Amino acid sequence: MTEETRLLAPEAEHIAYAAMMLARGKLVGMPTETVYGLAADARNAQAVAAIYAAKGRPSFNPLIVHAPDLGVASQIGEFSGEALRVAESFWPGALTLVVPLRPDAGIASLVTAGLDTVAIRVPAHPVAQDLLHSFGGVVAAPSANPSGRISPTTAQHVLDGLGNKLAVILDAGPCPVGLESTIIGWQDGVPVLLRPGGLPAEVIADCLGRAPLPPAANPDRPAAPGMLSSHYAPTASVRLNAFEAEAGEFLIGFGPVSGDASLSPSGDLVEAAARLFDILHLADAAGQPIAVAPIPDHGLGRAINDRLRRAAAPR
Ligand code: TXA
Ligand code: MG
Repeated sequence: MTEETRLLAPEAEHIAYAAMMLARGKLVGMPTETVYGLAADARNAQAVAAIYAAKGRPSFNPLIVHAPDLGVASQIGEFSGEALRVAESFWPGALTLVVPLRPDAGIASLVTAGLDTVAIRVPAHPVAQDLLHSFGGVVAAPSANPSGRISPTTAQHVLDGLGNKLAVILDAGPCPVGLESTIIGWQDGVPVLLRPGGLPAEVIADCLGRAPLPPAANPDRPAAPGMLSSHYAPTASVRLNAFEAEAGEFLIGFGPVSGDASLSPSGDLVEAAARLFDILHLADAAGQPIAVAPIPDHGLGRAINDRLRRAAAPR
């Protein structure tokens, strides 16, 4: 992607243009009250893969889905009990809720990194709201910075870090909160603070009548945000760098290795990333041991290989 990024004031016609770019599968710099997001159509797997490519993320962390309101959010995730109560109390705002993914949500599996939960936020920023309404869908958006760099709180930060990887950045000035959203999830029915952020945990505790706990010291659920390793893991064994299937194996192909299903027959890493979790699910459902063709270890290939190594790790 070497197109020139347009830095546009958040006027109605520019917001409509940005929404059109989202519909075309392009990346948009979206101002929110917390930080600028790198937004893509959450239903478009190729567009979501392009987020990871733009950020140069070495692994696939699940992304936050942004919805215009609780009604739309409820089409993606299941809200009941405490999740519903905090959503009604604090949305729109700097709060992200991790809830069960609805089976009919229709979002790309790369958004949730294959998990059966989904992180959802309803942003309060008027430009984010206008963009979501104009687009008419939901967007996946991590912070709009290259992987490992600090989060952007101005449009210029986005341009400096990711310029020419986005179609357009809506410049709405500095983000009022300037810190990522607070992330709350539930483990065994207990609220957990997955990431402290723009909404103080104390006010959530007041609403719930109990404080969200630190996540359980489970090796699959490290506390540090972005370090989450509770990705979808196939039940079958996984063998890497396979050129041919051994007896009984389901071979996931790439490029010249066609296999039983291919991540990308043409060897395109963006396409491979977009299909990764769907094909892992498909292979797992086949109930056979899984073998995977070699994937080049550059660009999105690093994140794909990171995920495959985790899937292949002894457990
Ligand atoms: O303020 C924000 O939240 C910004 C703006 C753009 O909305 N977005 C943001 O997204 O910070 P990101 O991708 O940098 O952070 C997403 C984090 C992941 O690292 C992970 O910790 C958590 O959200 N997450 C997402 N889905 C999850 C899930 N299903 N289970 C647990 N944690 C999840
Ligand atoms: Mg981030």
